[in-house]
Amino acid sequence: MAENEKKIKIKIDGIPTEVPEGTTILNAARQIGGEIVPPAMCYYTSLEETGGKCRTCLVKVSKGSDQNPKPMPKLVPSCRTTVMEGMEVENITNPDVLEARKGVVEFLLINHPLDCPVCDQAGECDLQDLSYEHGLQETRFNYVKRTFERIDIGDKIQLHMNRCIMCYRCLYVADQLTEKREHGVLFRGVKSEISTYIEKALDSDFIGNVIDVCPVGALTDRTFRFKNRVWFTKPVNAHRECDKCSGNVTLWYKGEEVLRVTGRKDEYAEVHEFICDTCRFDKKKTSDWVIESPKKVQHTSVIASNHYEELKPPSVIKENKKLQESNKEQLSRSERYK
Ligand code: SF4
Ligand code: FES
Repeated sequence: MAENEKKIKIKIDGIPTEVPEGTTILNAARQIGGEIVPPAMCYYTSLEETGGKCRTCLVKVSKGSDQNPKPMPKLVPSCRTTVMEGMEVENITNPDVLEARKGVVEFLLINHPLDCPVCDQAGECDLQDLSYEHGLQETRFNYVKRTFERIDIGDKIQLHMNRCIMCYRCLYVADQLTEKREHGVLFRGVKSEISTYIEKALDSDFIGNVIDVCPVGALTDRTFRFKNRVWFTKPVNAHRECDKCSGNVTLWYKGEEVLRVTGRKDEYAEVHEFICDTCRFDKKKTSDWVIESPKKVQHTSVIASNHYEELKPPSVIKENKKLQESNKEQLSRSERYK
């Protein structure tokens, strides 16, 4: 960060912080960290133009800025709204935000199949975590879910369009990391779908990264498919000399076997150094790699942190009557699992 860079002072859920001008509310919240960080299903730091699609990151701007202290009339997507001097933002301290988030999760789930028991993404699925924290325990959707014909997009990547939440991240990967994009969004509205043009296979040196950025199980690794549940595998950071990418990866072991290779994800499940398909699909022997250390699983997976046993509502909810009212279901679950 340049020394003379202008800093903006803002407050998120009452916590003050200073960030460079141009920072989004979401990234300012990530700078503070912890439970006040809004969830994000479509924003992805290392891909340009992402965000603004899923609405899971909505927050309330209760004070626009020192110059114009009026609150913003509607909830705003924190991944697309930049900070202003003196801005005050409410996330988990505002019942309307939590209520809206529940609504967004309900919408994301109306067409999403209950595939978690058989889905390779289970245990590291953002939607699984989100629905556990904010979802209803039953559906109010009485219509038939949208389904799609299976499309073969090659021998390395599996597309399950039924699970897609239309976050567009995979399109940005293809646009920004590969030389030719062969897939896109076809049709509109509820009929939109990710598809390859004339059902071409996706193959290019970096296309495997669509697997890492997909927040749900719509794009999965065919070389790992049904081999194991992710929570039974041991992630280890490793690297190799590679002339196409940084060669910095995570190897997922079962015993002595490398079951899959992925990019290294941070605590928000984002990869910052994308890896090439040779490292991802063709180097599955320990001798191909220099092992560094076990990887710390930071992402708050429902499974990694045993949320299935005890849901821990943010402390601010336990103290605030209004928030308790709008989080009745989550609170009753946390009581039940004690
Ligand atoms: S396939 Fe995955 S990454 Fe692509 S738009 Fe759908 S959910 Fe997003
Ligand atoms: S993460 Fe902000 S709209 Fe999707």
